Amino acid sequence: MRTLYCGQLNESHIDQEVTLAGWAHRRRDHGGVIFIDLRDREGICQVVFDPDLPDVFATAESVRNEFVLQIRGRVRARPEGTTNPELPTGMVEVLGKELVILNKSETPPFMLDIEDHEVGEEHRLKYRYVDLRRPQMLQRMKFRSEMTRALRNYLDERGFLDIETPMLTKATPEGARDYLVPSRTHQGSFFALPQSPQIFKQLLMVSGMDRYYQIVRCFRDEDLRADRQPEFTQIDIETSFLDEEEIMTLMEGMIREMFAKVLEEQLPNPFPRMPYAEAMQRYGSDKPDLRIPLELIEVADLMKDVEFKVFSGPANDAGSRVTALRVPQGGKISRKEIDDYTKYVGIYGAKGLAYIKVNEMAKGIEGLQSPIIKFLPDEVVMNIMQRVGAEDGDIVFFGADKAKVVNEALGALRVKLGHDLGMVEHGWRPLWVVDFPMFEWDEKSNRWTSLHHPFTSPAEADLDKLESDPGNCLSRAYDMVLNGTEIGGGSMRIYREAVQEKVFRALGISDEEARDKFGFLLDALKYGCPPHGGLAFGLDRLVMLMTGAQSIRDVMAFPKTQTAACLLTDAPSQVNPAQLVELGVRVAKPVKEEKKG
Ligand code: AMO
Ligand code: AMP
Repeated sequence: MRTLYCGQLNESHIDQEVTLAGWAHRRRDHGGVIFIDLRDREGICQVVFDPDLPDVFATAESVRNEFVLQIRGRVRARPEGTTNPELPTGMVEVLGKELVILNKSETPPFMLDIEDHEVGEEHRLKYRYVDLRRPQMLQRMKFRSEMTRALRNYLDERGFLDIETPMLTKATPEGARDYLVPSRTHQGSFFALPQSPQIFKQLLMVSGMDRYYQIVRCFRDEDLRADRQPEFTQIDIETSFLDEEEIMTLMEGMIREMFAKVLEEQLPNPFPRMPYAEAMQRYGSDKPDLRIPLELIEVADLMKDVEFKVFSGPANDAGSRVTALRVPQGGKISRKEIDDYTKYVGIYGAKGLAYIKVNEMAKGIEGLQSPIIKFLPDEVVMNIMQRVGAEDGDIVFFGADKAKVVNEALGALRVKLGHDLGMVEHGWRPLWVVDFPMFEWDEKSNRWTSLHHPFTSPAEADLDKLESDPGNCLSRAYDMVLNGTEIGGGSMRIYREAVQEKVFRALGISDEEARDKFGFLLDALKYGCPPHGGLAFGLDRLVMLMTGAQSIRDVMAFPKTQTAACLLTDAPSQVNPAQLVELGVRVAKPVKEEKKG
């Protein structure tokens, strides 16, 4: 059908006969000659038809955008003045001798040389097969494929086995809702689609596979955001007989090698590490974006005795924080903008956003401007200014509340200010976050939950405190963070049955429930389970970061919308009543018609 791709054509092909196949990107009629820009996966080349061959010319005249064509012709240098150095094929053109219309096309739903935002996303998703023809999308798909190739090579070279795990399975707890699949042969019972292959990969270690990986689809029914999809892809990894040091070294080596190969970027060696507690303290986040040079500074000790309750209340409460966020040269932020930032932190539950503008430090308290300094002794204000290192022209924001609220509110404000004020440094800032707490208290269910997942090993030193003091136990988990996004997470696993049972108990999971849900894992731990650990990267997130795409949907061929629907196939959809009968499933009348899209 063809001798080479359109995009491969160059001056070395001059005077050769070539056969090309592709899509009519554009047709132009120019004073008796017709130009067709022919496009395929590798690029675009120009084909010229002149009236010397009337039949061919007539066919060329009938060509419309996106017709599928096969063209035979001779390659020649473009006449002087008509070359296009911007285009890789811009020095040559093909003089068309034969033209076959392999298929026609209706007028495409949108132009192909537009940017992502120039057409509504719903339209792009509905006609995804056309959208994917756009060079930008094509580039992302190619890039994604290059990435998985680099990752596979790295793992293959190091003896990892690529092993598949079931999609129809039992729930794996990763903190989201499950997607369920009714069983026909066991009516009333359901499979769960995996939220991750976590338990299976651990079982593979019990089986002695030693090193496993899989590029695998995971399913999570959770609230979607710009970097979350209901089905997404993990690079899932597990190893035996390695400790966290060795695993982290191996894994950051993989990410470094991939960056070098596909982006020609050198990442630091080794990646820096930060304990979870420090990340929360300094950045209010367990995935700090280190490109932003702003930090939260603790001032609770200075506020303990002030009369202003907004500050002294939290300053004297163990579960609360009072922090300052100094923004160099932030004094130019207007009243209106401060009001907007106050609303913004309100989203995270902050009840206000106190601030002090630093006009002139030399004038002491007179040089400061703020609605709150009248509530604070001068000495306290000056001590705070000194602690945060305030300079003329700065603004200092304050957050005082439950630690969770302050962390989320000021952590998000820090990132927003960084972007709004153009303070985000250029480049890649990877980070390992380590020493995570084992559990976090869940207000809603009034019990401890796993911060990672319940198979994560507690720190050796905390084994005895699991049930007596769960709030102060650390785990052997690690997250890889890149420019403020969590791109991967993992841990050393529990490999002794007694420890696993203890952790279940600490989580308030009864022996009976543990048996019912994870009996097979508890059994496996009895049959010679090696020490093991691993991690999983979010492939889509990595591609998104590395391509600079604004949304995770732009790096997936067929993504779902924010409401977890597929506009292309119109899934999910209602099913034939007979199918439901067969499955023994009856649909309750929907309380409210749910909207898709
Ligand atoms: P975790 O739940 O942290 O760990 O997931 C690993 C990585 O997967 C990505 N990710 C997502 N990407 C897109 N859409 C989503 N809805 C989504 N959810 C998670 C993130 C995350 O870092 N079994 C453990 C790993 C292990 O312990 O080995 C696990 O699944 O980038
Ligand atoms: P109020 O006493 O509520 O009028 O607040 C006085 C100032 O403190 C205002 O600038 C508020 O934005 C700010 N403020 C109120 N609550 C908090 C809080 N929890 N954290 C930080 N600033 C606050």
